[in-house]
Amino acid sequence: MKTIIRNGVVVDLEGSVRADLLIEDGKISAIGSHIEEMDAEVIDAGGKLILPGPIDVHTHFDLQAGPLRAVDDFYQGTLAAACGGTTTIVDHMAFGPKDCPVGHQLKEYHRLADGNAVLDYGFHGVLQHVDKKVLEDMENLILSGIPSFKAYMTYDFRLPDDEILRVMQSVKKTGGVLTVHAENHQVIYHLRKKYVEEGKTGAIYHAKSRPAHTEAEAVGRLIHLSAMADYPNLYLVHISTKESLMEIRKARQNGAKNVYVETCTQYLTLTEDKYLLPEHEGLKYVMSPPLRTQEDCDALWEAIGEGLVSVVGTDHCPFFFEDKVKYGADDFTHCPNGGPGVEERVRLLFSEGVMKKRITLQKFVEVSSLNPARIMGLYPKKGTLRPGSDADLILMDTKKTGVFHQEHLHGNAGYSLYEGYAYTGEIGLVMQRGKVIVKEGKFLGNRGDGEFMSRDIPELESK
Ligand code: URP
Ligand code: ZN
Repeated sequence: MKTIIRNGVVVDLEGSVRADLLIEDGKISAIGSHIEEMDAEVIDAGGKLILPGPIDVHTHFDLQAGPLRAVDDFYQGTLAAACGGTTTIVDHMAFGPKDCPVGHQLKEYHRLADGNAVLDYGFHGVLQHVDKKVLEDMENLILSGIPSFKAYMTYDFRLPDDEILRVMQSVKKTGGVLTVHAENHQVIYHLRKKYVEEGKTGAIYHAKSRPAHTEAEAVGRLIHLSAMADYPNLYLVHISTKESLMEIRKARQNGAKNVYVETCTQYLTLTEDKYLLPEHEGLKYVMSPPLRTQEDCDALWEAIGEGLVSVVGTDHCPFFFEDKVKYGADDFTHCPNGGPGVEERVRLLFSEGVMKKRITLQKFVEVSSLNPARIMGLYPKKGTLRPGSDADLILMDTKKTGVFHQEHLHGNAGYSLYEGYAYTGEIGLVMQRGKVIVKEGKFLGNRGDGEFMSRDIPELESK
């Protein structure tokens, strides 16, 4: 099966060139100025940009969180992702039962995703306690297809500093990646309790109880722990504040090359005034970390330009608004944490970043596709348009504009955090391994088309 994409502008790190792209058996086989193949199907790109398939390495499909379950499963979540121009996801596993072995959740996640996902997918492992057996099992999984694990510094299954240090030392041996949700649990829980005791229970107190320094302090602490473990690959998920960026910049200036930073679309585009919306609308934005200030958004954009932020994900973790209200209306501390966003990410990042000239087209490719692939062990199969790579790509029409409205989106939440938000740049086509899965907004793929990605140990620079 051969396909030629003609009349497009191929974008990769080296620049943008008008070229034809030949695809054979799901892989890119040639890029050239005029490729002729007798028996190939021809797709006319009509002058659109041809971008490497965007990858979202921070989703929570089918996540069990206390009494509730995130409302997008692997089918609906990956379908929404595909319609928004994402071609691969790496999902963070939820915590399992107390004291369960590391492999417990892997088995559970295969049950949830296999045969359901429409996009290629991988899983980050999760750590919820640490002992010799957990570390051994983690090392074995890192060497066999799950090279990244997540530890939390908050929530019930948070790891204390000594356990994080042990995990870092263990990860360092294998070359895997430790991803961490960095927030200072004790201070946050002190502030939450204080606000509730004072009767300050509205959504805005979700943000006030998690001030910027609670993230930055945890980030700084992690960087010191990482130095003590001789700098394993450390990946800081959903960084949201200027203060955290200052800690990371300092670490980089001290020579730490492999402290990687992810932010998410909501921290680049939305601010904490959303928590003041009437009719409990503010609860839609209850997520951790919370939305911040315009100054933080600006600092994050700058940090992308500077190369300090490597990845933009979503932390897609939607709950129904009715449940947010049911649990959170009287007390923000009971509101389920998380929101939708997997379908809006690519267009938001392109429009707010490239079209508004905050970042270059090459930066867009780096943070949406190349870096997630490199850091998470998917490169060069994914994240690039080179011969030999999977033919995962999107066509982006820079002349088209749109407005996000819930009725055009495909997730189950029933609302978008970006309702009414205008964007420039529409996705004309989404291709996964040579197959067109979305065309002009219409999903053409099938449940189960996605393949599990056994990932490699990433080849990354160490300090
Ligand atoms: O509020 C959020 N982000 N919920 C999902 C779980 C997490 O913290 O990543
Ligand atoms: Zn998350």
